[in-house]
Amino acid sequence: MIKKECLDIVQKKCENCTDCVLGNTRKNIVFSDGNPESAKIVLIGEAPGETEDETGTPFVGRAGKLLNQFLEEAGISRQDDLYIINTVKCRPPENRVPTDVEKAMCEKFLTAQIDIMNPKAIVFCGATSLKSFLSDKKVQISKVRGQWFDVTINGKTYRAMAIFHPSYLLRNHSMEEGSPRRLMQNDLAEIKSTILDKNFAMV
Ligand code: URA
Repeated sequence: MIKKECLDIVQKKCENCTDCVLGNTRKNIVFSDGNPESAKIVLIGEAPGETEDETGTPFVGRAGKLLNQFLEEAGISRQDDLYIINTVKCRPPENRVPTDVEKAMCEKFLTAQIDIMNPKAIVFCGATSLKSFLSDKKVQISKVRGQWFDVTINGKTYRAMAIFHPSYLLRNHSMEEGSPRRLMQNDLAEIKSTILDKNFAMV
């Protein structure tokens, strides 16, 4: 079966999910964006916001538009290079951070998506997705972003990097050397050159 067919099966289950309270208030589940057959990278955000809940597509609100700008500038194709997903698939009311229970209930969908995608690399976009897979729950994104590390999910080890969440960049406009926006540019350039430009098997 091709990846898309396997993911469609998971998506159908997710559409019917009422395992946590977010199922009561969502308009749409927000499952993924991007082409699963061509994407080499899985990018994981936090949770859908209002526009994502309305449309059923991740990262299409203000933060998503800013992410698109950075991706475009780095030469990373949102549609072909990335498979974009969130840690939880339903919008938390008032855009609060998802609870541990909500994350735990949604983990089966998240890990199934990663398993099926078997990506060359995982990009954790923001602290929520990063902390979902690290034992150190106090890890600070500003300390670890931009560095490659290995993460094991369901027995498979992937190359991974954390980057800032675009909503953080919406509050930080500086383009000075060392500013969050400049670091985001550097991190995306590193991801592109290591994962997309080189023959990964040779790295
Ligand atoms: N923030 C996220 O983490 N994901 C989205 O899909 C939108 C905003």
